[in-house]
Amino acid sequence: MADKIFDYIIHGGDYNPDQWLQTPEIIDEDMRLMNLAHVNSATVSIFSWAMLEPEEGVYNFGWLDNLLDKLHENGKDVILATPSGARPNWLAQKYPEVLRVEETGIRNEYGVRHNHCLTSPIYREKVRNINTLLAERYKNHPAVKMWHISNEYCGECHCDLCQEAFREWLKKEYDNDLEKLNFKWWSGFWSHQITDWSQINSPKFRGENHVPAMKLAWRRFVTDSTISFFENEIAPLREITPDIPITTNFMRLYDGINYQKFAKKLDLVSWDNYPAWDRGFNEKEACNVAFVHDAFRTMGGGKPFFMMESTPSLVNWHPVNKLPMPGRQELSSIQAVAHGADSVQYFQWRKSRGGHEKYHGAVVDHCGHENTRVFKEVAHLGEVLQKLNNVVGGRSESKVAVIADWEESWATQYFCGFNNEHREYFEECTKWYKPFWEKGISVDVIAMDDDYEKYDLVIAPFLYMLKDGTIEKIESYVKNGGNFVTTYLSCMVDRDDLCFLGGFPAESLKKVFGIWAEETDSLPEGMKNIASYNGKNYDVVHICDLLHSQGAEVLGSYETDFYKGRPAITVNKFGKGNAYYVAFRNDEDFTKDFCEDLIKKVSIKGDTEIKAENGVSIRKRGDVIFVMNFADEIRKVTLDGEYLNIATNEKICGEVELDVCEYLILEIRK
Ligand code: GLA
Ligand code: ZN
Repeated sequence: MADKIFDYIIHGGDYNPDQWLQTPEIIDEDMRLMNLAHVNSATVSIFSWAMLEPEEGVYNFGWLDNLLDKLHENGKDVILATPSGARPNWLAQKYPEVLRVEETGIRNEYGVRHNHCLTSPIYREKVRNINTLLAERYKNHPAVKMWHISNEYCGECHCDLCQEAFREWLKKEYDNDLEKLNFKWWSGFWSHQITDWSQINSPKFRGENHVPAMKLAWRRFVTDSTISFFENEIAPLREITPDIPITTNFMRLYDGINYQKFAKKLDLVSWDNYPAWDRGFNEKEACNVAFVHDAFRTMGGGKPFFMMESTPSLVNWHPVNKLPMPGRQELSSIQAVAHGADSVQYFQWRKSRGGHEKYHGAVVDHCGHENTRVFKEVAHLGEVLQKLNNVVGGRSESKVAVIADWEESWATQYFCGFNNEHREYFEECTKWYKPFWEKGISVDVIAMDDDYEKYDLVIAPFLYMLKDGTIEKIESYVKNGGNFVTTYLSCMVDRDDLCFLGGFPAESLKKVFGIWAEETDSLPEGMKNIASYNGKNYDVVHICDLLHSQGAEVLGSYETDFYKGRPAITVNKFGKGNAYYVAFRNDEDFTKDFCEDLIKKVSIKGDTEIKAENGVSIRKRGDVIFVMNFADEIRKVTLDGEYLNIATNEKICGEVELDVCEYLILEIRK
C-alpha cells in the first residue's frame, strides 16, 4: 500500500446521523455545515449494529445507503466502520456467551460497549456476517475510501472459552512441553508446579497473580487473541474489497495490547488524541503527545498515520472538564500533521442530544448553528489544511531512536522489588525523548526488536527485560559503530522474566558496556543521592545501580551514602561504537544536559537551522517546516532565511514573535 491514501489532508470525524434519522432536516443541515467547516470526510456506522440489524437476520441498510449517497453528493469521503465495538441487545440476550467475563469470574450483563468476549465463536461469526454484508453492499460505493475496524479494541475476557484458548496458546508458546513452562515460570517457587494444562487459569486477583512470567504470557495471549479477532473481522473485507485500506483506532499509550505487534497488520496506523491541555502543563503535555505521535508514526514504518479522533473543544470524562484556551486545539491538530498525520478528525461532528456523551465537545453544538467559537476554529483550521496538499505523504528522517517497547512496559510493571512505587516506564522513555524534541531533532520511537542500524544513537531507558535476540542486536549495533544508551535496572531478565545468571547487564553485554552492576538501591520519596557529572550535581531519585567499571570510562559518580565515589555514568568503547550506562533515575535536568552532550559527540543535527525559545517545537516533514508555540507566553523564533508561510501565504524572515498557540507552516525554498 502506498504512503499516500488520499491526496489531501482528511478533515472530518465520527458522524452518527443514525441518531438523527427522525429529523432528516438536521442531516441536510450537516451537509451545509460540513461545507462551511471545510470538512471533507465522515467516519460512519461505528456503533450502528442495532440500526443495521434490528433483529437477528433482519437487515436495514436503507438509511446507510441514503447517507453514503448524500455524503458523496456533497463531495465527502467516507470511512466506513465495522460495528463490533458495541452489540445489539438481542444478540447478547440470545447468546450470553458473547458478553465478557471480568477478572472476578462474573459475566457482565448487557451494557456499555467494548464488552465482548474475544474468543466466542458465535460473536466472531456474527461480526463476520455483518462485515460481509457491509462489504458486499458498499464495495463499489464511490464515497467509501477506508475501513475503520471496530473501535478502540481493549480489555480482556476471562470466560471458560478464553481460559481454554489461553491454555492452547500456552501449549504453542512452550512447545507443548509442561516442563519447559514450569521452568520458564519458575513454578517450583511456593510449590506451584503445574502437572496438567487444565490447572492453568488466567491471572486473577483471587487466584494466581504472583508469577510475572505468567502475567507476561497472558498479555501476549490477549494481544494475539485481539489480533485474531481483528483478522476474523477483516477476512471478508480483504476478500471483497481488497483495494480499500484498513485501520483501527489505537489509544495513546494504552498497554493492554501490544500495539507494536498489532500495527503490523494495518494498512495505516491511526490513534485517538485527547491531550490534557486543561491540566496546566502545556509544554510538557505537548512533548508527551509528540512522543505518542512519533511512536505511532514509527509503528507504521514511518508512513503517515491518521489522528482518527480528537476533541474540537473539551472532553466529558476528566473529573473536571476545563475548556482549552482558544487556538489550543488548532495548534494540537497542526502538531499531529507536523509529526506525520495525514488527517485531523474529531469525536464528534455533532453533539448527541442524549446519552452519556452529550456534553463531550463536538464541532456542532446543541445550538445547531455555525456561530460558535469552536465551529469557527474548526472552519479556520479546515481552510489551513486545504493548503497542505504537498505535506501529504511526507516523512521525517530520524537519526535518533528511543526504545519504548510495549512488552517492556509490562515487564517493568510485573516484577516485585526495588522501588515498587515507581516504575513509570513510558514516562521514562518520554523523559529521554524530550531533549531532542526541544531541539527540533526528529526521533523514532521503536520497539526493542526493530532495526537499530539506521540510527546514529539509540536510547533504551529502563531496558529491564530483553527479548530473544536483543543481546546480539545491541552487541552488533555498538560493534559496528552505533551509540547505545541504557539506564538503571537494565538487561536483567529474559522474555519470561527469568534473571540472567552471572550478574547484570546480561552475558556479553557486560563486555559491551564494560561494567558489572552488583546491587540496586531504591530511594524512598523525599530521599535522594547526588550524581556529579561535568562539574555539576544532579539529583538521583527512586532507583540507582551500584556499578563496577570493567574497562568503561567513568563519566560521573555518586556523591553520598556508602557508595559515594562509585560510578553512576559510564561509557565504554566497544568495536567502533560506544555503550553508555546511566545507573540512576533523575528528574529532568540530567537527561537534558547529558543528551546535549550526546548530540554534540554523535554530531546529530537539528532538522532545521531555525532557532527558537523554550516551548516552541520545530518539526520538519518532507519539504515543510512546522514551528509551533506551546508555551503560555509569546516566544521568539529566528528564521535562517526567507520562507513562505503556507498557512497565511505571507513571506517571512528574520526574527519573528509567535503568540500563544501561534504556529508557522513554512515551505522550504529550493
Ligand atoms: C473514544 C471513543 C469515542 C468517544 C471518545 C470520547 O475515543 O472512541 O467513541 O467515546 O472516546 O472522548
Ligand atoms: Zn471470553
